[in-house]
Amino acid sequence: MKTWELSGEEQKSQIEELVEDYTAGADVGYDQRLAEYDIYGSIAHVHALEKLELVDSCEARKLRNALRELLEEDLALTSADEDIHTRIENEITDYLGGLGEKLHTARSRNDQVLVDVRLFTKAEVFKTVSELLNLAESLLQFAFSHSETPMVGYTHYRKAMPSSVGLWAGSFAEALIDDLALVESSFELIDQSPLGAGAGYGVPVRLDRELTAGLLGFEKVQNNAIYVMNSRGKFEFNLLSALASVQLDLSRLASDLITFTDGEFDYFDIPEEFTTGSSIMPQKNNPDVLELVRGKSASFSGHLSNLFSLLHGLRSGYSRDLQETKKTLVEGLECTYDSLEVLAPLVSGLKVNEEELLDAFSGEVLATDEVFTLVKDGVPFREAYRRIKNNLPSESEKISEDKVRQSLDSRNHAGGPGNPRLERIENSIESAEEKWEEKKAGFNACLRELAKPENPCKEGDDQNTGDYSHD
Ligand code: ARG
Repeated sequence: MKTWELSGEEQKSQIEELVEDYTAGADVGYDQRLAEYDIYGSIAHVHALEKLELVDSCEARKLRNALRELLEEDLALTSADEDIHTRIENEITDYLGGLGEKLHTARSRNDQVLVDVRLFTKAEVFKTVSELLNLAESLLQFAFSHSETPMVGYTHYRKAMPSSVGLWAGSFAEALIDDLALVESSFELIDQSPLGAGAGYGVPVRLDRELTAGLLGFEKVQNNAIYVMNSRGKFEFNLLSALASVQLDLSRLASDLITFTDGEFDYFDIPEEFTTGSSIMPQKNNPDVLELVRGKSASFSGHLSNLFSLLHGLRSGYSRDLQETKKTLVEGLECTYDSLEVLAPLVSGLKVNEEELLDAFSGEVLATDEVFTLVKDGVPFREAYRRIKNNLPSESEKISEDKVRQSLDSRNHAGGPGNPRLERIENSIESAEEKWEEKKAGFNACLRELAKPENPCKEGDDQNTGDYSHD
């Protein structure tokens, strides 16, 4: 029975079933992921009700222990449940009778869904960040192993100047660390407790919102009850915007690798397990994984604009449109995690073809260096530029390895190919790992604490022993 119905006895009409399916059908699949967080949110809420003496200590313990038992249950949702919040309340009421009916005191499903989504998102961000750091680490190790391996640098997709494999790979590790700063700032917004905002206008009792925020491992309480509602979808949008930067880097990395592993370049080989064959052409080893990384980043941009479109123009306060943000959030998080996860071992397994990399250094790649040789002899830059332009090295001229290395060594300013300062990225990765591990440990410790069964009251606690198993 739905919480807003007076009775659930009658047979449902076809229209009622149609509406039920339309409003809840696809959404329950996403709500399923929120189940454990809804339970944690309820356990914390019962603490607040107890503090207000809206339930006594025995009742509070019974409610919390009953909720804890549900953590072990497989609550397979259907559209008839309407949503996870209703299903859990119904389970508790079936189990504890009248006491279960106290659970929803002083809260709304609107603040519940916000609690659930934020806890879920925090857990997903921890997973995503760990994969991001893993990929950054793979790129960095690859950069360290080939820091001095020459590689042509390109502009406009055309050969430009001498560069190195270390500079190229290090650029992506550094980019991911920048992206992580964006993820962290959106995480800070998400890490605020919405609980207590009710339906967006508070509740008529002095709920201890600090208490529930602390129990649930939120860094702080989000203040304004209306803004709590209005930030639904907006915080998700902020996070997906940060992840959009990750996606941009991944798609660029994929694009580079598709190019540089192509037979016409042959700078690197993709480990064979990451390629697929052709059904008709026996010679093919296709970079499908990398193409999908690029393709998924295109789909991701759809998620981002979906969130923006859902939100812009909405009035203040909850509207059911907001339900649609859940699917987008889940898909955006999933596709980012998946791409990060698959790229780390792919990068670690790349084979570097030093000979081909060096072979690509045809004469014109050193044209700028030749200008600088004249500049160092006192010729003004523009004059030197003209002299070399009038007498360009030939594209077919091969350059010796020594000359290439000299050129790389001369680019030894901060961040140049001769001085990519990879240790700085290494330090950033290490400190980020520590910081995020600490955040994750704090979060998990709070949830573990909430899950710990409490001793039931001495007298009367044998009246409500139920069984949650659904055969
Ligand atoms: N499934 C709903 C959502 O995701 C839960 C909140 C329902 N609230 C309401 N007032 N109908 O938004």
